Amino acid sequence: MTYDFNEYVERRGSGCIKYDELEKRYGHADLLPAWVADMDFPVLPEITEALQKRIAHPVYGYASVPEKFWQSIINWLMRRHGWKVERDEITYVPGVVKAIGFIVNRFTEPGDKILIQPPVYHPFTFVPEGNSRELVHNPLRRLPDGNYEMDLDDLEKKIVEHKPKMMILCNPHNPIGIQWDAETLRSVASICHRHGVKVIADEIHEDLMLWGIKHIPFASVSDEAAEISITLGAPSKTFNIAGLVSSWVVIKNKEMREHFFTWMKGNEFDDPTFFATTATIAAYDHGDTWLNDLISYLEGNQLFLEDFLNKEIPEIKAVRPQASFLTWLDCRALYPGESEIHDKLDKFFIEEAGLALNNGFIFGKEGDGFMRFNIGCPRQTLQQALEQLKKAL
Ligand SMILES: Cc1ncc(COP(=O)(O)O)c(C=O)c1O
Repeated sequence: MTYDFNEYVERRGSGCIKYDELEKRYGHADLLPAWVADMDFPVLPEITEALQKRIAHPVYGYASVPEKFWQSIINWLMRRHGWKVERDEITYVPGVVKAIGFIVNRFTEPGDKILIQPPVYHPFTFVPEGNSRELVHNPLRRLPDGNYEMDLDDLEKKIVEHKPKMMILCNPHNPIGIQWDAETLRSVASICHRHGVKVIADEIHEDLMLWGIKHIPFASVSDEAAEISITLGAPSKTFNIAGLVSSWVVIKNKEMREHFFTWMKGNEFDDPTFFATTATIAAYDHGDTWLNDLISYLEGNQLFLEDFLNKEIPEIKAVRPQASFLTWLDCRALYPGESEIHDKLDKFFIEEAGLALNNGFIFGKEGDGFMRFNIGCPRQTLQQALEQLKKAL
């Protein structure tokens, strides 16, 4: 490994929500945080160097967007995922969640329906609802071995019954970490295409692929997928730069693209700060080895966690993610025979174990009894968290 991810970096007092909002959000400032999806690792040194170089120039006037910015993203998508994107198919968006809000506003009307697949990233619920859209649920199906799959029959049934205008797909999926296979994605595309449903493909976790599994961009699986999709991605999860707000959108369909990009431009929502462009270029141009090392480290963390749970806390079962640094923990055996245990789990993890995780319930009622554990931290921190959990039990 070229890079060492074992170093502990003190983040308290740095103005980050993960540590500095514990009191506000969890009622205790001294918890060990394993919740919001950013990592505790320092970034690729080239990112810091590029930012420092830019900041050293003392005039921070309006920034021009270097052509290199687009080229770096396009090269990255081709190099890492074999996905060919043309310059005119991509633009900047100031965050993936905000982009979902923009897209929902531009392509649907208040009262329209939007389909999601719970348990899923909670803004897929609150962004449509916050914009007076109605949600249609096509829950994931939990298999006896603890893994999940899409219920495609139910997807088509819900689309025929409720006529949603749009679906929000999470690929790879947060919180469960599934990279959907090509056949599943093609089926989604075919069903949605048949019924005139546009698909937002949130692919923000696409670079953090574990165990040699390949990311498959939704728009790449078929002509139908390319025609109906709006793909969102970013270097923010990959390179731990969420605070710099750099994300992108790709739309292959010319008509949809013009409809959205002209509106983005008209509102200047497609205008990045120099922090975003500078960090993105440095990350995508110099970050391959760092990312490969990070992926190995995260795999090591996941194996460590599974081993610890098997030996010390067999009541809790981890679902092994195919992507990213979020692990879905099945905690239902802690309260056998009981349902609606999310409040009890919150109390136990916060009050007894001193840990701040995301309660699975926030991702939909299907997540009741589960917790999302962020393992994007030095192994020692992970071990400390697990020891606290063991002691509390
Ligand atoms: C699936 C998914 N989409 C979007 C985001 C947030 O993206 P942004 O910070 O760009 O709004 C996250 C963060 O956890 C996520 O997991």
